[in-house]
Amino acid sequence: MTEPSSDRHGTSPPWPPSDPAIQKVFEGMLEDGSWGRYHGPHCAHLRQKLADLHQSEFVTLCSSGTSAVELALRAAGVSDGDEVIMAAYDYKANFANVVLLGATPVLTDVKQGFPVPDPQQIREALTDRTRAIICSHLHGCFAPVSEIRELAAQHDVPVVEDVCQSPGAIHDGVLAGTAGDISVFSFGGSKLLTAGRGGAVVTRSETFHQRIRLYTQRGNDAYPLSEMQAAVLCPQLEQLKRCHETRRERVRQIVEGLGDCKEFSPVLNHAEEDLPAFYKLAFLLDHDSREEFCSRCQRAGAAVFEGFPGLHLIHAKRRFRALGDLPHATALHNNLVMLHHPVLLQDAHVIQPLVTAIKLAAERI
Ligand SMILES: Cc1ncc(COP(=O)(O)O)c(C=O)c1O
Repeated sequence: MTEPSSDRHGTSPPWPPSDPAIQKVFEGMLEDGSWGRYHGPHCAHLRQKLADLHQSEFVTLCSSGTSAVELALRAAGVSDGDEVIMAAYDYKANFANVVLLGATPVLTDVKQGFPVPDPQQIREALTDRTRAIICSHLHGCFAPVSEIRELAAQHDVPVVEDVCQSPGAIHDGVLAGTAGDISVFSFGGSKLLTAGRGGAVVTRSETFHQRIRLYTQRGNDAYPLSEMQAAVLCPQLEQLKRCHETRRERVRQIVEGLGDCKEFSPVLNHAEEDLPAFYKLAFLLDHDSREEFCSRCQRAGAAVFEGFPGLHLIHAKRRFRALGDLPHATALHNNLVMLHHPVLLQDAHVIQPLVTAIKLAAERI
């Protein structure tokens, strides 16, 4: 079992924060008994909201972001002997999902200095065995999904857009979760939209949706999201835009405050008119002591953690095919650190002490 987020992210403000809108939802559920039913209005409402927001007709609610990725890969028809292309710096469970389905992850390098796939690498990795491409928006950065989808379409390969870290983000005027063929969301306990657990798959393709239905509907729902979970997510969707604005402003203040720090640089790839979503704010260190740097930050009250491990560095070589040596993903494995998001919704006055704590941690390395 995963610990509550307040334990795992010890130096962060508690997440989720207390919220009168959520309290009202719980009171309503106590009154109408919907908290204890298999079916009711809340899942239907959430499905409709996600469908409207993403202008996609088909929404499947499910039990986690991890199961959403599995369902998306099943929808794409991934099975024994297939290949699925993904960046070597990505969420661990995405790799595990590919292997679970009997397919081989094909690991490509990221764009230098950014936790997002490089379309040129993906072009080179495509073969007639490629059955899907996973494209994740990570740590407030945008993956080039539209570009990758364009080249994937030439091979009739669907793109799974992983929006678990960036619901509601907008790049080039395009909402995250609308550029891929199938999009996946997480409502896990640390996420920007949280129900403790939960996920969703969103698509415009009836064929993909039907495949998911066939797999999940077994006379009963095999990967359910409960009414209670759906009920607490609806008000959060309403608040998402406003919360993102606050987070972006805090990120701006942090980046400005750390501007003269030579030991590390922020990892951001958005244009001025873009609206990124910050589940994590990433930095690249100019040295290899990230473990020590993170402990120093945490001791000083800043929730800074090591980034993801490179997938090529933690899995046996027989489990994947790699396109080259993956030097840029290795650099992220060694040098990327990330600030966890709850502090970004706090008042502006917490930012200066945070910046000072991070600067001090960097100076002492
Ligand atoms: C990019 C990405 N994909 C998928 C997931 C899996 O989501 P869940 O924790 O809901 O299974 C996560 C969780 O952190 C994630 O960051």
